[in-house]
Amino acid sequence: MTVLSLALREGTAEAHTLAEHTAFMKCFVRGLITSRLFRQFLANLYFVYTDLEAALASANSDAVRAIYFPELNRSGQLAQDLAFYYGEDWRDQVTPLTATRVYLSRLHDVAQSEPLLLIAHSYTRYMGDLSGGQALSKIVHSQLMLPEGKGTAFYEFPALPTPEDKKAFKQRYRATLDSLGLDEEAIARIVQEANFAFALNCNLMHALESELKTTIGDQVWQSMVIENQPSRRQHPRPEAIAI
Ligand code: HEM
Repeated sequence: MTVLSLALREGTAEAHTLAEHTAFMKCFVRGLITSRLFRQFLANLYFVYTDLEAALASANSDAVRAIYFPELNRSGQLAQDLAFYYGEDWRDQVTPLTATRVYLSRLHDVAQSEPLLLIAHSYTRYMGDLSGGQALSKIVHSQLMLPEGKGTAFYEFPALPTPEDKKAFKQRYRATLDSLGLDEEAIARIVQEANFAFALNCNLMHALESELKTTIGDQVWQSMVIENQPSRRQHPRPEAIAI
């Protein structure tokens, strides 16, 4: 019998590698991110989490209800960061990129037609935030020379303050996935959707690359792009979805 948590981890391993190797993420881990780029990234994630969290909270599915943990919600945390980077009138200053609109459109469609697949979207974002996201927080803090406790609320989980809490929670999340009692077909659909969610995230990051290119200069950009090309070829093309 297929175990959902394992199927997701193994079935998205390649997509995860591609996401880690986007030029955006590579620049991020090398400390090449600017405040301007980072706030745009956060603003786009704000739209994603707002819709994801609304969809999870209202989904007409027992399985989705079981995997919905409000303590993971990111939209409130992101709003704090956006107020810090843009000012109190941040809502008037941010709009979703086209790639983000495609992501939102997919969340909306899935919530309407096959809410079970929201599990894939929850997994892709929250498990990532609880994992590699924690290292990214430290990089942002030192790169942008942020004041203590400012600008990285997105990576903070007040209900899970320590690494041990996060680790234990991830085990709980995986155990919950495995207790849903889904059949092989449902598991295969969720893994497929998780791969799509990774692709949507990669496209969101690709959409920020022109700004990134201007910031880091042609030479550094070229080295990132050459390594990055295979990921562009292998991903499914979410831009094919109508908005
Ligand atoms: C530089 C970028 C990234 C790094 C360094 C990174 C690093 C990691 C690490 C070390 C883990 C394993 C944690 C563990 O086993 O407890 C992990 C897991 C995960 N990451 Fe990432 N990650 C990155 C980007 C991303 C992105 C962009 C996404 C999705 C949008 C993502 C989604 C996930 C997911 C869903 C898991 C959970 C895998 C599982 O255990 O089932 N990651 N990441």
